[in-house]
Amino acid sequence: FNKSGIFVERTLALIKPDAVNKAIDIETVILNQGFTILQKRRVILTAEQCSDFYSEHYGKKFFPSLVAFMTSAPLVAMVLAKENAIQQWRELIGPTNSDVAKETNPDSIRALFGTNEQKNAVHGSDSAVSAEREIRFFFPNCIVEPIPVGQPAKDY
Ligand code: PPS
Repeated sequence: FNKSGIFVERTLALIKPDAVNKAIDIETVILNQGFTILQKRRVILTAEQCSDFYSEHYGKKFFPSLVAFMTSAPLVAMVLAKENAIQQWRELIGPTNSDVAKETNPDSIRALFGTNEQKNAVHGSDSAVSAEREIRFFFPNCIVEPIPVGQPAKDY
């Protein structure tokens, strides 16, 4: 809350190549958990685009394998909206490694739809700064600032 009302936060969700064939089931979970899907597109990333998206991991041992995997087939990018969306989405997807998720968070999306550390079904922005960058990356025309509920729409 603030004096303008409730602000609806946005986050970026990716359905990774290993789970695109389960996208309908994942979207059902997303909607049942009260998220609104504001934008959605299916995209095949080039290695250059993917390296840019994951630039914070450049130099790590798994980086080449991560880029190869994420460019191997189409993925689905979505902008999700909900109060506290960034944290709520991270909680819903569970820990990075789907093997771990199956033990510790069996109802999470990564437990239900993923396989391991790399084939973990989905991605979620980890902070407000990342969410803004990642939403702009996939949806350059998307409004990223939270919209106050109950306020008249301004012209964008
Ligand atoms: S780190 O180093 O702690 O920041 O890494 P982590 O958050 O665990 O993972 C970052 C993303 O890299 C993917 N990942 C891997 N891909 C391939 N192989 C291995 N070994 C591997 N380890 C991690 C992981 O799925 C994360 O992807 P996102 O899209 O951020 O969930």
